[in-house]
Amino acid sequence: MRFPDCSASPPPAEGGAAAGSPPAILGARREVPLLDGRRVPQVFLDNAASTKPLAEVHAAVAEFAARYSNIHRGTGHDSLFCTERYEEARRIVARFVGADPERDVALPVRNTTEGLNLLATTFGFGPDDVVLSSLLEHHSNDLPWRGRARVEHITLRADATFDVDRLERRLREHGGRVRIVALTGASNVTGEVLPIHEIARRAHGHGARLVVDAAQLAPHRAIRMGPHDDPGHLDYVVFSAHKMNAPYGEGAIVGPRAHFSEAAPYLQGGGAVYAVGLDHVIWADTPERQEAGTPNILGLFALAAAIRVYERIGLERIAEHERALTRRLLRGMAATPEVAVLGRDDPEDLEHRLGVVSFAVGDLYHQLVAAVLSYEHGIAVRAGCFCAHPLIKHLLRVTPESERDLEQRIQARDRRFVPGAVRVSIGLHNTGEEIDRFLFALREIAARRWRGRYEQDVATGEYRPAGFRFDFAGEPGFPREG
Ligand SMILES: Cc1ncc(COP(=O)(O)O)c(C=O)c1O
Repeated sequence: MRFPDCSASPPPAEGGAAAGSPPAILGARREVPLLDGRRVPQVFLDNAASTKPLAEVHAAVAEFAARYSNIHRGTGHDSLFCTERYEEARRIVARFVGADPERDVALPVRNTTEGLNLLATTFGFGPDDVVLSSLLEHHSNDLPWRGRARVEHITLRADATFDVDRLERRLREHGGRVRIVALTGASNVTGEVLPIHEIARRAHGHGARLVVDAAQLAPHRAIRMGPHDDPGHLDYVVFSAHKMNAPYGEGAIVGPRAHFSEAAPYLQGGGAVYAVGLDHVIWADTPERQEAGTPNILGLFALAAAIRVYERIGLERIAEHERALTRRLLRGMAATPEVAVLGRDDPEDLEHRLGVVSFAVGDLYHQLVAAVLSYEHGIAVRAGCFCAHPLIKHLLRVTPESERDLEQRIQARDRRFVPGAVRVSIGLHNTGEEIDRFLFALREIAARRWRGRYEQDVATGEYRPAGFRFDFAGEPGFPREG
C-alpha cells in the first residue's frame, strides 16, 4: 500500500471493514452554502476543537444502542453484555496510551476538562505545595490546579517554545516542593509537541509527578506511558474522545490504580460504594470508587471503537500524513507575506509540532478572517483565544494596561477588541487539495478580496455578512421546537 503524501488522500486503514480505503468520516466534505448562493464541499479544518465521527464508530454506537443497558449489578443479558464490553473498552483505552496493565487504570470521564478537575482533587495539596505548569496551557490544565496549590507557569523562549531547562531550574529552586508538573502534550494554539518523557525524567528526579494533558496529542501521536520503574514514564494522561473522531461525550484519565484508591471519590453517590449506613460509608475500590453515577457507556464504546480504527491505520501513518499536509500548509503560508504564524513556523522542521497552526493576516481582525473563510469559501476554522488567554496575550504582547482596558470592555459586554488569532487544525481526513483550497482563500483575504460587507457583533466580537444568515431551518435532523 502506497504511503500517503501531501497530495494524497487520508491514510488507508489496514484490515477490517475499511481495508484499503481511507476511513470514512461522516460529513467531512458535506456541501455547505456560501454567501454567493453556491454550494461547495466544506473544508473542515477545525479538528483541534472537535472532530467529526468516524463512520465505523457511528455504526458501532448504533449497533450497541439496541443492546444498551446499564452496567454493573444488572442481571439481564444486555446488562451483562454491556458490563463485559465496558471493562474491555476500559482496557483498550489504557493500552492505547501504553499504560502499565498491572498498575494503571483508565477512568472514563466526560472530557479532558473533567479528567483534569478530577485529578486535581486527588492530591490533597498542602499550603506549600507547588504545581508547575506553563504558559502554553489550555485553561483546562490551569484553572483546576489554581486554588488547590501554588501554581507557577513556566515561561517560554522568545520563539514561544517550551524550555526543559527552565523547568529543571524551577524544580531545583523549589527544593522538593513541586508535587505536580502539569503540562500539555501538545499546544492547541502553536501545535508545539513537548518532550514529555524528558520532562517526566526531570520531574521524577525532583520527586514530582507528571500530568500530561493529551487532549491534542492523543489523536495525532502514539503515547507510551511506560512501566512505572522507567524514570521517563508518564504518571497521568488525560484526553477526550471528541478530538479522536468519536464525539459521544467521553474522555479518559489513565493513571495509577493505587493513587485513585487512596483519594476521596470525586463524585459521591450510587455505584461508588460497597456499603452505606445512615452515618457511614464504605467506599468501593478503584475504578468504581471514582465512577459514581451511571457512566456514558455508549461514549466509552465509541472511544474504544475509534481507538481500534486509529490502531488499524497506525498512529505513525496518521502523523506522517498530517506532517505532509502541515508542510504544505506552512510553505503556502510562508509564501503569503501578510501571514504571520504564531510559534514554530518552519515548514521543514515538523518533528516537534502538530498540524495546529494559529496565525494573523496583516492587521485584519481574526474573527473577520474566520468569517470570510466560512461564508465565502466554505472553510471551517476557529478564531479567538482558544481557551488559552495567557498564552495569546503573551504571543500578541498585550500589555497589562491594555489587558485591564480589554477586561473592562468585556465586563461591559463588548468583545470587539479581544485579541486573538485564526487557527487551522488538520485532522486525519484532510487532503492536500483541501490545504490548497485554504491557501487560495488565504491569499484572497490577504489581498483584501471578499464580497460581503461584514458587520461585527458587539457582544460576541464575531463577524457576519450584512443581511445574510445561513438558513438552518432547511437542515435535517435538528431537534426542533414545536
Ligand atoms: C490542550 C487542550 N487541553 C484541554 C482541552 C479541553 O478539552 P475538552 O474540551 O475535551 O475538555 C482542550 C480542548 O480544546 C485542549 O486543546
